[in-house]
Amino acid sequence: MYLVLLGAPGAGKGTQADILCKQFNLLHLASGDLFREALSKGTDLGKQAKVYMEKGLLVPDDITIKLIQEKINGLEKGQGVLLDGFPRTLEQAKALDKNLKAQNKQVDRTALIDVSQEELLRRLSGRWICRQCQAPYHLQSAPPKITGRCDKCSGELYQRADDTVETVKKRLEVYSAQTSPLIDYYRQAGKLIEVKGEGEPQAVGKKLITALKAG
Ligand code: AP5
Ligand code: MG
Ligand code: ZN
Repeated sequence: MYLVLLGAPGAGKGTQADILCKQFNLLHLASGDLFREALSKGTDLGKQAKVYMEKGLLVPDDITIKLIQEKINGLEKGQGVLLDGFPRTLEQAKALDKNLKAQNKQVDRTALIDVSQEELLRRLSGRWICRQCQAPYHLQSAPPKITGRCDKCSGELYQRADDTVETVKKRLEVYSAQTSPLIDYYRQAGKLIEVKGEGEPQAVGKKLITALKAG
């Protein structure tokens, strides 16, 4: 299965990806995580992406499509995938469709996590993520067991450079202008399910699982 998670910055894509990948035995492929990994290693890709990420803008389609395509093409046959943060433009969605079609595959389902603007801002301003595995935490709603340490891998927690108020505003604008058209794209293809993303992460996860199982 190829499952795409759609939703604004802070909607809980990373949080729900963890729950859904366990439930459906999928591989978590997150473009933002891949860019941050490249950035921390100081690779050319990381250097290219940094310029856009720190401004809250999208990394150009050609760079992003190539990165994800290489990942997908390198997977074992039959491996199910959860895509988090990709596609983010119509051009990326079309490129993904084309690439999957060439392998006799397709995007099977798309899940939209819908959260109010006010809650998105609250979530992003209190978010801390793991430097090693990028698991997200929140000071109030999802605190780690040990302050400053990841529950999963004991990695150090830090605040993302693009989680400042100004950059978050820009990311929300970019989402609305460039990514939200994908909602209609997948709805028209009959592949979209929608879930309200407010409430406990586990409760949101249950709603997503139920909706996905319902087909
Ligand atoms: P990316 O890393 O994908 O960031 P994003 O889309 O802005 O999404 P976030 O990671 O901020 O939010 P999320 O939905 O994962 O929420 P989370 O689960 O962490 O992209 C970053 C940048 O990379 C982009 O700006 C762009 O520059 C570049 N990029 C990436 N992909 C690209 C692409 N395809 N094309 C071009 N450029 C690309 O949750 C947020 C917080 O809320 C956490 O603290 C969490 O603990 C908390 N929380 C989660 N769920 C709940 C809940 N139910 N209740 C209370 N709190 C909750
Ligand atoms: Mg994320
Ligand atoms: Zn970790």
